[in-house]
Amino acid sequence: MTVAYASGKVILFGEHAVVYGYPAIAVPVTEVQAQAWVEPGPGGQGVVVVAPDLGRRVVVREAADDDPLARIVRLTLQAMRRTVEPDLTITVTSTVPIARGMGSGAAVSTAIVRALAGHFHHWFPSRAISDLVYQTEILYHGTPSGIDNTVIAFEKPVYFIKDRGWEIFWVGKPFRLVIADTGIMSSTREVVSDVRRRYQSAPDQYRSLFERIGQIAVAARTAIQQGDLDAMAALMDENHALLQEIGVSCPELDRLVTAAREGGALGAKLSGAGRGGNMIALVTEETEGRVSMMLRLTGATHVIATEVR
Ligand code: MEV
Repeated sequence: MTVAYASGKVILFGEHAVVYGYPAIAVPVTEVQAQAWVEPGPGGQGVVVVAPDLGRRVVVREAADDDPLARIVRLTLQAMRRTVEPDLTITVTSTVPIARGMGSGAAVSTAIVRALAGHFHHWFPSRAISDLVYQTEILYHGTPSGIDNTVIAFEKPVYFIKDRGWEIFWVGKPFRLVIADTGIMSSTREVVSDVRRRYQSAPDQYRSLFERIGQIAVAARTAIQQGDLDAMAALMDENHALLQEIGVSCPELDRLVTAAREGGALGAKLSGAGRGGNMIALVTEETEGRVSMMLRLTGATHVIATEVR
């Protein structure tokens, strides 16, 4: 049996604007993970993916072309030049919350690629894994920027510009984040399409919002590399205000952001597509406990603390 893992992620700066070619920054969150086990299956069954958390059992050869679990298996076997379908059972579980902006789909797909590669003693560079996973992100998200598959496949902080590339960059001084879940599922595909509609009806206004978000991501990269927490915090607050203007926040996210700041967070913002899902707060060792408590008291369904390094 071969087991492989993939972590979740949060976007620190630049969500939504990244879809339009502006830079964004994302980091892996290893506290949540998808796991995939590959083991030989009964003869003649082909590949079957069992995902108990999703209540799914997918017989790959019978699955629709647009089934993301089947697609990642097919693409990975093709990339390994396996012409004969093997008899395998792949079991997938995940602690990455679904539809909350933490990259659950990309994490599951990445874990499957890694587990299949491990099973066949094949080595994929992270770039190849990211490219394979992107093909399933299209099914989950419609027009994904590609940031989720990149940060999850590389498992390092990334500075990302759609269609132009990405850079893994060094964090000057490790910093702590509290991630809090509104408990509201949010469809990235729907929120991204709605933003596109709004952009089409007010292009100048939206372009200037995206542009400012892009400038924030550029400045944030410098702040992160210099270990300047105060600058990062101010940029997070400004990024959240711009995301509110874009129309992707919601009362639950705003309440958590306010609670985090009142609890002593240096800065806070929503993370991911918005209209539910998670928010992030920049904290110190001293304020982490109080911020986490405030977030729980304000209705967060899950609170995770992570260190970015
Ligand atoms: C989703 O994690 C982030 C968005 O910017 C969409 C994308 O980048 O594909 C909202």
